[in-house]
Parts: sequence; structure tokens; C-alpha cells
Amino acid sequence: MKKTFYVTTPIYYVNDIPHIGHTCTTVAADIIARYQRLIGKQVFSLTGTDEHGAKVAEAAAEERLSPQKFCDKVSRRFEEAWEKLNISHDFFIRTTDPRHEKIVADLLLKIYKNGDIYKGKYEGLYCVGCEKFLTESDLVDNKCPLHPNRKPSKESEENYFFRLSKYIPQITRLVESGQTNYIFPEGKRKEIIAKLKAGVNDVSISREKVKWGIPAPWDKKHTIYVWIEALINYYSATRFLKDRGKFWPADIHLIGKEILWFHTVIWQAMLLSAGIPLPKKVFAHSFYTINGQKMSKSLGNAISPNNLVKKFGADAARWLIADSFPSEDDADVGLAKFQERYNADLANGLGNLIARVAALAEKTNFRYQKARGFNPLALVKNELFGELLENCHLARATDLIRKSIAELNQEINDKALWHLEEKRLTKELTKIIASIIQITHLLEPIMPETSKKIRAQFDKKIKKEKPLFPRLNEEKC
Ligand code: MSP
Repeated sequence: MKKTFYVTTPIYYVNDIPHIGHTCTTVAADIIARYQRLIGKQVFSLTGTDEHGAKVAEAAAEERLSPQKFCDKVSRRFEEAWEKLNISHDFFIRTTDPRHEKIVADLLLKIYKNGDIYKGKYEGLYCVGCEKFLTESDLVDNKCPLHPNRKPSKESEENYFFRLSKYIPQITRLVESGQTNYIFPEGKRKEIIAKLKAGVNDVSISREKVKWGIPAPWDKKHTIYVWIEALINYYSATRFLKDRGKFWPADIHLIGKEILWFHTVIWQAMLLSAGIPLPKKVFAHSFYTINGQKMSKSLGNAISPNNLVKKFGADAARWLIADSFPSEDDADVGLAKFQERYNADLANGLGNLIARVAALAEKTNFRYQKARGFNPLALVKNELFGELLENCHLARATDLIRKSIAELNQEINDKALWHLEEKRLTKELTKIIASIIQITHLLEPIMPETSKKIRAQFDKKIKKEKPLFPRLNEEKC
């Protein structure tokens, strides 16, 4: 039986339209999913939208739509963006799906019956932008640092609380044990350890004033706090979809750094309380910034994935995202930077390599025949590439590919292939095309269409074809 692999992205709030911040997590998850399929695993890849809560209800009211109508409209925009980027997710979950709502109610009822939920009073600050309660120490100049243009609201209401504190010793042991890559990169694990050591209170898990949510099954006057039910999506999809049960626990949750605590402490505690196995790894990447500022709708500096695809095409957009992926530190991006990279890596690097090899093969009537024992997947199965993708080092993976392409271009120059006599040329072209084919397999998770196109080009009578990546000039940026 095939080994399974389950990868998830955060589910995106539908108050925002997709921007390339969301896109980078989704593209990263897709590259990982495609890589795992390539090495023979049975993959389940999940993404979706987070549709309840005050923020979404507010955005719906602004557009004079019912929350559900509003969610249907905006959720579709995420799906469309993912289609344009050729994301191969197996399921798109929406938290307004009644099947999800049912699993949420069942799971929380179980926690309630365990005695881990109690009634209390919450008094404090709430950031609707983050959908999160804030403490004084979270504030910068009395404002939420991620939403400086929205004042946190003062809240005082009866809430149900979850006994998070009860599970802290167990979670601390788990995180401290350094179990390989349970939380990574390492800096993020350390951040969680420091927060765990600073003392942890129980968390509010219901809202009395927020009507747009899933009713608490034990007290219908309350709705479940949006974050609590959103986390359950990762599990619920494996319950209500046929034949997906075997994918739990997830192999990896891919998230942005701002939602690390929810995913590595609160989610774990809920699962421990409900007696459900914990996900194996959580990877938190950093942010895309534009001129040093986080990209978001509220700051008005977002680049849309549709623009990226329109300008560069889906495969090139995927390459550019992988290549700038903020695995550890924030990455400052922008259309001009993307164009520069596109020209260097794709128009001049890969595109040029394919064009010149094809032109030479056409001119000399060369037909590629693979050598005996040739393994097209040799590079993909190479430990180094695998390790980079297992550790979500996407930019290092593109770097490795870029270098292999540059080496081949260099080799063609050094050997001045166009001056070689027929026998020697046949030998060299066979070797070079074999390397190109191996590289296309490395490219496959990142640029699936290009990778197929190149293989098809060398599989028949070779001719020079339209440039894969026409050079873009400055003015178009
Ligand atoms: N709905 C919650 C997640 C619930 S998961 C159970 C949420 N949604 S969000 O739409 O606000 O953001 C989701 C994710 O988008 C972030 O965690 C991150 O992965 C990604 N990004 C949003 N802005 C980003 C950047 N500027 N840069 C990189 N990724 C960022 O939080």
C-alpha cells in the first residue's frame, strides 16, 4: 500500500480578497504536495476559507449582503485564484459547510463532557482584524501591530473557557523534547518555548455577541469562537470526506508566523483533550513585505495573484513565489523584483537553455534516445532535493535548480557544441538532454506545465519552438 501524506494550508478569511501573502502559503503547500506525489505517496492536500466571525460579518454588512451570500462570493475568489495558479488541492473546505459544523459540534461536545470547558467572564481587548483577544503586552502604541488602523475594542462578556492551562505541561514537554521538526524552523520553536514558560491562561472559546458562527452545542446562546472552529477544519475534512480518515494525523500544517500559537499550543491542547492524535509537524513561514510593511488589504499594498499570473503566466508566478518564499525571514517583494528574476532565471536561464539546445538539435536532425539505465527521477530522488522540500526550503530548492541550469548553459558554451563534429555532438546532446529531462522532474512540483512541455519537446522530432518565457522589458512593469 502507498504511504500517505497530508498537507494543509491555513484557511483564509473571506473578508479579504486573495493577495500574494496568502498565495505563498498555498503555492508552497502545492509544491510540497506535488513533490510527495512524485515520489510515490498518496497525498491529501487541503485548503479553504474561514467564513465565520465578527470580521466576516462586518465585511458582509459593508457590502449589504447576508454573511452567507458574501462568503459564497468571496470564497469563490480564492478558488478561482488557486485554479489560475494551477493548485492541485484535493479538497477546498469552507467552514460554513454543514458537514464541518457537525464535526465541530461533536468534537467540542466531547471536550465539554470531559470537563475541559467552563463558564467565565472575559474582560479585555479584542482585535477584530486578528479575530483575537489581546493582552497589553501585545500592543504597540496602544494598537495591534498587525492592524494599526483598527482600534482594539474593549470587550466584557460571559464566555466559555477551555482549560488550556491543564495541557501546558504536556505540550511543553513535547515542544522541548525537540522531536524532529515538530515545530520549525527552530527559531519558531524557541519562540513557543519562551511563551509557554511565561505562563499560559485558559482561553475563551465562545462569543455571546457574535451571531455569525456555529452555536455552542451545550448552550445555543453562544457561538464558537471563530479560531477554535477554524482549527478543527484540518480534522473535520478527514472525517466527513469518504476515504480520508487514514490521512489523520496531518503530516504537516503550513502556516504564517502570526498564527503559530493557535496551531502549536491551542490546537494541540484541544486534540489532547478530545483524545485525537496530534499533527506531526507545523511549519511557520515569515511574511512577504512590500517596502518593509506586511502586505494586506487594510494597508492597501497587496499584490494580487491574478496580476502575477496575468503578467508572468501561472508557472512563472509559481517559480517566483517559490524563489522568494520567506522560509525563515521576511522577504521584501514587488513586481519590479519579480520581473528581474523572471528575466534572469526563466527568460535567460531556463528558456535560453531549451531554445539553444532545441535549435541545435533541429539544425543537425538530432533525435534524442535515452541511454541504457537512464533514470529520469535521479535528481528528484536525490537526498539533497528531498531534504530541502521536506524542510520547506523552497528558495534553496529553486537555487539548486537555477545552478543546474546555469551549469548546463556554461557547459554548452565551454564545449562550443555548435562546432563539434557529428559523432561528438550526438554524444554531448544526448548527455545534455538527459540532464534537461532530469531537471524537468525537479521543476515538476514548481512548474508542472513547463516541465511537461519541455519533456514533450524532446520526446519527438526536436524543433525550436516559441520561447517558453519571452523576455519582459522594464516599461511593462
Ligand atoms: N483564518 C485564519 C487562519 C485559520 S487556520 C485554521 C487567518 N486567515 S488570513 O487570511 O488572515 O491569513 C492566513 C495566512 O495567510 C497567514 O497565516 C499566512 O499564511 C498568509 N499570509 C497573509 N499575509 C501574509 C503575508 N503578507 N506574507 C506571507 N503570508 C501571509 O489567519
